[in-house]
Amino acid sequence: MPDRTTVCIQTLLKNPEVQSVVSSISQVMEARQSYKPAVCGVFDSEATNLENSDEYRFEIDKDARVALPNIINNKVQVVAPCEKTDRHSKAFHIGIVFSGGPAPGGHNVIAGLYDAAKKANPDSRIFGFLVGPDGIIEGEYVELDDQRVDHYRNLGGFTMIKTGRTKIDSAEKMALSRQTILDMGLDALVVVGGDDSNTNAAFLAQELHDDGIQVIGVPKTIDGDIQVRDADGKVLCAMSFGFHTAARAFSLSISNLCTDSSSDIKYWHICKVMGRVASHLALEVALQTHANLNLIGEDLADYVDTQRLSNAQQKGEVDFTAYGMTLRHLSRLICDAIVRRAAVGKNYGLIVIPEGILEFINEIEVFIIKLNTIIANYNDKHDRDFHASFPRLEDKLEYLRRLFRDMPKGLAPNVWNARDDDLFNDLPPFFQEGLLTERDSHGNFQFSQVQTEKVLLGLVEEYLDILRDQGRYKMGIHRPYYKKTLKSSGLDADYYGDILFKDYQNSSEYLLIRDSIISIRTLKTALEQAGALGDEDVIHPAIIKIYKTTVPKFKTQSHFYGYDGRGSDPTQFDCTYTYNLGLTVFSLVANGATGQMAAIRNLEHGFDRWEPIGVPIAPLMRLEERKGKLTLVLEKSIVDVTAPAFQVVKAHREKWLAANPGEDQYRRPGQIRLDNVNEEDRPITLMINALFQDCQITEEG
Ligand code: FBP
Repeated sequence: MPDRTTVCIQTLLKNPEVQSVVSSISQVMEARQSYKPAVCGVFDSEATNLENSDEYRFEIDKDARVALPNIINNKVQVVAPCEKTDRHSKAFHIGIVFSGGPAPGGHNVIAGLYDAAKKANPDSRIFGFLVGPDGIIEGEYVELDDQRVDHYRNLGGFTMIKTGRTKIDSAEKMALSRQTILDMGLDALVVVGGDDSNTNAAFLAQELHDDGIQVIGVPKTIDGDIQVRDADGKVLCAMSFGFHTAARAFSLSISNLCTDSSSDIKYWHICKVMGRVASHLALEVALQTHANLNLIGEDLADYVDTQRLSNAQQKGEVDFTAYGMTLRHLSRLICDAIVRRAAVGKNYGLIVIPEGILEFINEIEVFIIKLNTIIANYNDKHDRDFHASFPRLEDKLEYLRRLFRDMPKGLAPNVWNARDDDLFNDLPPFFQEGLLTERDSHGNFQFSQVQTEKVLLGLVEEYLDILRDQGRYKMGIHRPYYKKTLKSSGLDADYYGDILFKDYQNSSEYLLIRDSIISIRTLKTALEQAGALGDEDVIHPAIIKIYKTTVPKFKTQSHFYGYDGRGSDPTQFDCTYTYNLGLTVFSLVANGATGQMAAIRNLEHGFDRWEPIGVPIAPLMRLEERKGKLTLVLEKSIVDVTAPAFQVVKAHREKWLAANPGEDQYRRPGQIRLDNVNEEDRPITLMINALFQDCQITEEG
């Protein structure tokens, strides 16, 4: 071995090339930090004011009118150019908080607000509340400066000031928050959050109105369920920020799986994608990747089992269980896709399921609602919280059992009955545990904690075994392969073909073995009955080889796409959207708005049509069940199955399932980039819906 020169580790570490490649600032990060998102034309003007628009109509909830009197009559406000006045040059003190799950682009909301406020007056001060609303309640914040803001420009996550899920939902928390804001001398508070957080923003706006403190919301959530329309369906906010990036990140990973799966052709990949209730992310992923089977919760909710219905009709009965999807039936739909692909030799594929799918499965939704009520009732009546009182699954189950045996006072009768208990006990323990999991601070069921894919897979595997035994789940054999195999063994392929396959005389490219042949024993019987094998003969190895090839092995890999994609660096769409949202926030603050949510109108169209606006939050509030009580919240938007985007996915179902001898139809969406070259500039869902907005899509014509 030749002598080797020795190098001290310090020399290695001081080497400029080594230092450059191990720096925490990668080249991509550097490029992102210096990237300047395009700004809407109105922000090029000297200053902006707000013009009330009478173009929109809202149906106001009477409870919202009572609860939010100071902001209920707010109008949509359009940001317009104007000359700079003293009002615009004021040094504002503004606090900003992230609330709920991270969503790519949040840092740019801060950057846009910071740049606009400093441009208007360099003495303006922006404060970031730390770790979500707790930072307001507890007075924990940092003043943001150039260095901090510049570090995070165009980068994903909410790392700059962190986030949290606390809700300011009690008089005490409200009073503490107010005190923090007064002590800090803030002119305005900006709440970047989802439906619950914007609801919180509206209540804070009401509370702080008489103190002259403005509160502005910003529509954030990767789930894409903040989509605002007025009472006539006119779009005000087509999508919350973060959705596009998360969908593109999930799509990239799933598309890579499509590539892998169609290369080694041995796995079915079950991909659960985030989206607590609404399936917007799963829909966009379907459009981005063309995975083989794309389940959309909202579509399943409308499911009617026509077979069951007509069976009941024949007996003069109505079968109400035929309406809506059950877990078992869903597993049948999945099996159908698997069986059909296997018949053409494809024992692999990709299934996308939305995280919130359970919300649309009748039997499970009922459990979720009942358990929400039981847990909320328990927490209301006891000092210790339900989960602290019953830490182990067995304790929780025992409490449920006691509920129907020995109903505690105050609980509505039948909230948990013997039938519920029976059905619940049929579920696997990990699923029971998931359904009993702690609700978040807003009382929402935490779908991300439930291994839905595992439950479905269990049912799918069970049913595939039955289908295999019935001879209905088998691999199709490529006809040329069959012929070649038999010919090379000196056997007459046509002679055996009729005995082995049910469709040998058809011209099909793939051959299906007869339903009765499900084992070597039944194979032997089939050959004997056809006179192709004597009692004492052994089956020719080539025939055994063909038979074995027809027996499918169901191998799966399950994946959860959520936290990873949620932490991605934003797409150009999200960078631009959020930076402009930040600028819009400043415009709303500088012009005295409160109880408004910053938004960009025409987001569904190209950037040249974007228009910054303020959307009144209070008129959008509706009563919803939370923690077992009716509460005013900003309404969530779920997938509209009559809208063009879903209809396009539905129309492509057969093509993307590709249960035919042809190629799969996978699409490669590619990496998230900042230059928008050769990629669509906004979510495909938005694009398609905008093209045929307000049109009814029909099957014929
Ligand atoms: P937000 O609505 O707060 O933006 O969060 C959405 C989400 O990412 C869901 O998709 C997911 O179900 C949930 O957060 C996960 O919550 P957590 O981060 O608390 O596990």
